[in-house]
Amino acid sequence: MPKLLIAPSILASDFSRLGEEIKSVTNAGADWIHVDVMDGHFTPNLTLGPPVMASLRQHCTVPMDVHLMITNPEEFVEPFAQAGADCISFHIEATRHPLRLAQRIRDLGCKAGIVLNPGTSQDDIEFVVDGIDFVLVMTVNPGFGGQAFIPEMLEKIRLVRSMIGNEKDLEVDGGIDANTARDAVRAGANILVAGSYIFRSASYMTAIDELRAAEH
Ligand code: DX5
Ligand code: ZN
Repeated sequence: MPKLLIAPSILASDFSRLGEEIKSVTNAGADWIHVDVMDGHFTPNLTLGPPVMASLRQHCTVPMDVHLMITNPEEFVEPFAQAGADCISFHIEATRHPLRLAQRIRDLGCKAGIVLNPGTSQDDIEFVVDGIDFVLVMTVNPGFGGQAFIPEMLEKIRLVRSMIGNEKDLEVDGGIDANTARDAVRAGANILVAGSYIFRSASYMTAIDELRAAEH
């Protein structure tokens, strides 16, 4: 199984101090920083774009994981790669040509991830997994932080893990806390995105350590 990685989502951080929040959470042990990009179309919310990402890159010493929740991912992979993204994931529901898009992301020097909404079957990615580096299984409907983990997604995590084998990464995002992290890791996840659980905690380090304990 690939290494367990903890990826705090800055969506739940203090947006007036994003650079400092990234430093604090990295000092507390974050492996990646997860950046949620929403467009008000694919998701009923708006967040940030490439200029903000480029500023944040200067405050970040670990890989930045850009999660595109937008209807036109083809138009934004290059701007986000130029802004310093290390990983770029896009939704299977948002593109007609997932393999072409994954290849473009790889050509830009980034890891390519494909994302499944809760209502999307793992069968939809069966024929594209060879062309991507990681799968992100949404464990809430995208759009907001602080939502409850959808337990039915555990079965999807199991099915995706058996589909992709033990070399590729399997990320989960939404409603991750110490308990759901353990369930998700047992089902086969190895990258845990967590927003509220980390940024609403009294100690970022304790919260990250608790998530990392999901492995045991
Ligand atoms: C949801 C985003 C998540 C979100 C997770 O649309 O993709 O990354 O920040 O937040 P929590 O951990 O609070 O559920
Ligand atoms: Zn996300």
